[in-house]
Amino acid sequence: MSYRFEDVATVKDDLAKVDYLSDEGIAGVVYLADRLQKPILVEGPAGTGKTQLAKSVSEILGARLIRLQCYEGLDEAKALYEWNYKKQLLRIQTERNEENAEWADISDDIFSDEFLLTRPLLEAISADEPVVLLIDEVDRVEVETEALLLEILSDYQVSIPELGTIEAKQIPLVFLTSNNTRELSEALKRRCLYLHVDYPDMEREKEIVLTKVPDITENLADQVARVVRSIRQIELKKHPSVSETLDWAKTLVLLGVEKIDEKTATDTINILLKYQSDITKAVKELSTADGVTV
Ligand SMILES: Nc1ncnc2c1ncn2[C@@H]1O[C@H](COP(=O)(O)OP(=O)(O)O)[C@@H](O)[C@H]1O
Ligand SMILES: [Mg+2]
Repeated sequence: MSYRFEDVATVKDDLAKVDYLSDEGIAGVVYLADRLQKPILVEGPAGTGKTQLAKSVSEILGARLIRLQCYEGLDEAKALYEWNYKKQLLRIQTERNEENAEWADISDDIFSDEFLLTRPLLEAISADEPVVLLIDEVDRVEVETEALLLEILSDYQVSIPELGTIEAKQIPLVFLTSNNTRELSEALKRRCLYLHVDYPDMEREKEIVLTKVPDITENLADQVARVVRSIRQIELKKHPSVSETLDWAKTLVLLGVEKIDEKTATDTINILLKYQSDITKAVKELSTADGVTV
């Protein structure tokens, strides 16, 4: 059994090389997931880099990323596999026209690989090469579908009645992400390593901005991180996410801003906040001396 990562520090450094700024906590869980061969359940607010983490890990491993985007109503046919009915029907029609066609032969024929449509879970299980499986926004599926995921993640095998059992040739590194819109089942949580990804601290957010925003000065990146942090301390309906911080920083660079003053912040706050009530609240704080630091 060979492991994917040398140690925690390597995970962190390698992620930084592909522009993902992690911390000890994040890198540590990724390292452990590999050693323990367990899936990682990444939970936290929207826009904090959960999906990107899986993508970046696949990048540093040079492994194929297979993504299952979850949504309400996602079922086995879309997650695992389904039979290509149209193609099967066509084949039945053709074979029926031939003389001496036996149903048993036709049936063997149409329930073979050729007629199987593989969906992400089966794709990940049956891959020959190393893969990273991303089950994105798992909190959107119904609890029954969660059971299906659990089965796959416990055995890393899929049984198809007409074909038999397909066992994984390699254990994929699995990321499940959740925006925490509902509680996930205890069983699923038990199966996974848990990683809570919150908004980055000021220093890390500044690094992210410096890495991701072309032509930004260190000084402006520092101010951006500072203002965003103080806005996150206000009680709001929806706090700015990392992606919004990045959009804001890019906007400021485009506007040629060197120093963020109250007017600049107020004029551009709609990039950071998306609810009018939040904007009003933040603007009010910006105008009070001891409110938001600018
Ligand atoms: N730690 C990080 N390092 C680099 N970029 C980050 C980081 N966290 C978030 N981002 C940026 O924010 C964007 C949104 O992240 P995403 O993974 O889509 O969030 P989530 O899946 O948590 O909603 C990413 O595309 C990336 O550009
Ligand atoms: Mg996401």
